[in-house]
Parts: sequence; structure tokens; C-alpha cells
Amino acid sequence: MIKSASAIAHPNIAFIKYWGNRDDSLRLPANGSISMNLGGLFTKTRVTFRDDLRADVLTIGGKEVTGAALDRVSAFMDHVRLLAPEARYAEIVSENNFPMGAGIASSAAAFSALALAASAAAGMNLKENELSRLARLGSGSACRSIPDGFCEWAYGSGDEDSWAVSIAPASHWALTDLIALISAEHKKTGSSAGHTAALTSPFQPERVRTAPERIKKCRDAILNKDFATLAEVSESDMIMMHSVMMTQKPPLFYWEPTSIRLIKAVRDWREEGLPCFATLDAGPNVHVICPSEVMDEVQQKMKKISGISDILVSAPGGKAHLV
Ligand code: PMV
Repeated sequence: MIKSASAIAHPNIAFIKYWGNRDDSLRLPANGSISMNLGGLFTKTRVTFRDDLRADVLTIGGKEVTGAALDRVSAFMDHVRLLAPEARYAEIVSENNFPMGAGIASSAAAFSALALAASAAAGMNLKENELSRLARLGSGSACRSIPDGFCEWAYGSGDEDSWAVSIAPASHWALTDLIALISAEHKKTGSSAGHTAALTSPFQPERVRTAPERIKKCRDAILNKDFATLAEVSESDMIMMHSVMMTQKPPLFYWEPTSIRLIKAVRDWREEGLPCFATLDAGPNVHVICPSEVMDEVQQKMKKISGISDILVSAPGGKAHLV
């Protein structure tokens, strides 16, 4: 019997960043984090368990994928096969409507869509927290793409309760994320290896120690729609994470010259009274967050900065769902 299901999930942008694990294989985070789902951008994944397969088969954007990417997906599928009454291999067909591997958390959208599609295809009807926990095993940040809108992944006590919850729905606050695509000269180092080396930076313990204060500030700022505080705490948290990245062994420099030009310009615009702030994940692209009413003005200013190849526009997105 063929069992199949399809799911859609959005990537997310972290305001308070997850960087480093206290358990690498379980992806238990060194600190709590908060993010916003990115509406309009999505990964759609279909999972079909089949009798005739002797291994999992993965296709992304119409191309068959093998090697490390397939191994990571197959290891994730083993978690699903352990949970479900389903021992067969699967055909996994996935597509993104945004560019992969450039700091738009493609792994978050990928593993949250996969967790939902694979568990449904295997006949399970997991609760939201169970799904978020499952998605976490594929990619930490993926657990935050399961619930709706603005999501918090708490430090938690262990594997059993390490999942993300929605702190406010997508409709709560009309923010816009203007994502400046900036091409990198060097190939990006994957975040899994980056997390493992986080503690080789002397700054990581201090970043982790002070994270709970920033989490509280950020959560309150979202609940109160206090943009000035959200901007201040998010930008500072992003600079801390990148300071850790740049002082790890080996160091990870994700900022390109255009990234830093834009980060500085955004700070100038904010000082001049335009509400906006910049944040970057593990890549050179700069996410410029602003209230939606000023998005045209911010976008016009961004277009004058050289080195940006394109600007994607996103509003808060909803939860992962079956299609
Ligand atoms: O989920 P991962 O392993 O790809 O980690 C991503 C971590 C950052 O994007 C850099 C920060 C975050 O919280 O999303």
C-alpha cells in the first residue's frame, strides 16, 4: 500500500539567535531563541513510503540529491520510522520558492515540512509540540517553523520538552522583512559544524549567560508591539552571535562587504527616525525588519546600496500545514 502526504512550511528569521548545542546529536540548544515565520516563502514536500525502494530517494527542485544531504534526510527519516508503524523507505520530493543555502534558513523550512509530511504519511497525527520536537532533530531552527507567527523555542529541560510554541499569531503585528540577497565569495560553512565549534569562542559562555535577559526583552517587545525595543535587542543579539562565529575555531565570517555596508546604513536610518533594524543568520543576506507602513521607504533606501542582487519581501507567516 502506498502512503503519501504533502506539507508546506515557511522559513523563519531569528530575533534572538540559537547558536551552539548542549547536546549536538539531539540538537538541544545552548540557549533559548525567538523567531518570526516568513510568509510567502515556503518549502513544499511530498513524502511517499513505497514497497519497491531499497533506500530513501530525495529530489529537491527537480534534481535528485545524494551524498551528505541525502544522509541527513535519511537519518531524520529513521527517527520517523522509529516512531511510526512504518519500516519502508520513502520517496521525498521537495521544492522551495526561495534561494537555498544563503542565510534564509532553508533547513528550517525543509525539516519542518518534512517532519509534518513524513509523520502524516506514516499514519501519525502528531500534536504541534510533538511535531516541533521531531522537526528539531532535523535542524534546530526547524522546530520554530512548526507553530504560527512569532515563536519561542525555550531552553527546556531536555529532549522531552525541547520544542517551540507560538507566542503571538502571524496576524498579531504587521512587520515586514526585506531580505537583501548578497552573494558570497566563499562557500558557506554549514550551521551544524558551526554549532559544534561555538564553545571554542571565548565569547560564547557570556552570550549564553545573558541570553535569558534578551529573550524576555524580545518576548515582551513582541507582545507589546514595541518596535524600538525589538530593534535594539535583536540587533545586539545578532552582533553577539556573529562575534562568537568570527572568534570560533575555525572562524566563520558570514558578513560580506555589502552586508556590513547595509548593517551600518540601517543603523543610520534608525537614528534619523526611520524604524528598521538588521539581522543576519548563518549567511551574508541581511534581513531588514520594519513596520509594514514604512516598507516602501526602507526598500527605496536599500535599493541605493550597491551589491544587493535582489530584495525578497515577506510578512509574518503561519504554521506548517498539510496540503
Ligand atoms: O537550525 P540550524 O542548525 O540551521 O541553525 C541555524 C542558526 C541560525 O540561523 C544562525 C540562528 C537561528 O536561531 O535561526
